Amino acid sequence: MAKIIYIEHNGTRHEVDVKTGLSVMEGAVKNNIPGIDGDCGGACACATCHVYVQPEWQAKLNPPEDLETSMLEFAENVQANSRLSCQIPVSDALDGLTVHMPESQH
Ligand code: FES
Repeated sequence: MAKIIYIEHNGTRHEVDVKTGLSVMEGAVKNNIPGIDGDCGGACACATCHVYVQPEWQAKLNPPEDLETSMLEFAENVQANSRLSCQIPVSDALDGLTVHMPESQH
């Protein structure tokens, strides 16, 4: 279980507990957080779960696999700290993880 902080593009902050084993995307969808749709159900095939990871957390995450990197090319406004949140598994170590949603997702 970890507390994940999701911040919408308009600044609205959502702080929710997400069970270990779920992805950061699933944590958002289960809690009806706007800005992360997860249209493909986590198959790394839609990029509607694009988030910006707060810099201090980047190194603590599993690095992106090739499929995630290539799917990110289809996302808008990609930055150095962009990730697909369906590819980030939640664990206790991620307690406090903060992600921001891009302007194109709301
Ligand atoms: Fe579709 Fe993440 S939910 S790529």
